[in-house]
Amino acid sequence: MSRNIIFAANWKMNKSVRETPDFAPRLKAELANAPKVEFEVVIAPPATHLMALGPALKSTGFKLAAQNCGQGKSGAFTGEISPVVLKELGCEYVILGHSERRHVYGEKDVLILARLKAAVDEGLKVILCVGEKLEERKAGKTFSVIETQMGILNGLNLGAQLVVAYEPVWAIGTGENATPEQAQEVHAFIRKGLGSAGASTPIQYGGSVKPENAATLLAKADVDGFLVGGASLEAGTFAGVIKNGLQSRT
Ligand code: PGA
Repeated sequence: MSRNIIFAANWKMNKSVRETPDFAPRLKAELANAPKVEFEVVIAPPATHLMALGPALKSTGFKLAAQNCGQGKSGAFTGEISPVVLKELGCEYVILGHSERRHVYGEKDVLILARLKAAVDEGLKVILCVGEKLEERKAGKTFSVIETQMGILNGLNLGAQLVVAYEPVWAIGTGENATPEQAQEVHAFIRKGLGSAGASTPIQYGGSVKPENAATLLAKADVDGFLVGGASLEAGTFAGVIKNGLQSRT
């Protein structure tokens, strides 16, 4: 079964609102000579920038995403952003369980599950991030960590509303990406764990993806795209990731 190839830009807490609208037309222009392979582009700016970016995406076909969402429709959740409002602002996707949310802000699986249910109820697609820390990999615990993080999906059927992103924590923002073989091994494990949904669920890789390593990573059978941080901030560099990656699929 052919799966969507999805390239998602995770801007994290970068860029000003003013810098935001320019990015989409620039990326569109950079992709004019991309290999003729079907793919999807998703951009996740800071929540404060969604209103500025949404209209700029209209003519590009790129999809809008949020970096997190609240665990209910509305209510006493100081600092959170309702998935209802994300839909209102034109988001199609929301990233959940990013390692910075898990390890800097202490988000646990139970909270990530509550956020996921709220997002899915509003019709948002979820990019669920999973990944082991360096000490966990060294201790041979990679698969058990992934299995636990993926466990929140047990009993749920998200269908086309689910994308998984494998992001080894030791590879995020470090310049040290997982090797294509390391990525493939975990992606295959995740796909198997998804059971019958596995064949159609896109699994992205994330962690120091750049134009130089995009082709060898995307050449792997179970790598269906990327979640890109640092290399997504500049349109030319992000386009380089996309074009080099797609080259491996031609
Ligand atoms: P990076 O971040 O590409 O800067 O390593 C990836 C991510 O955190 O999604």
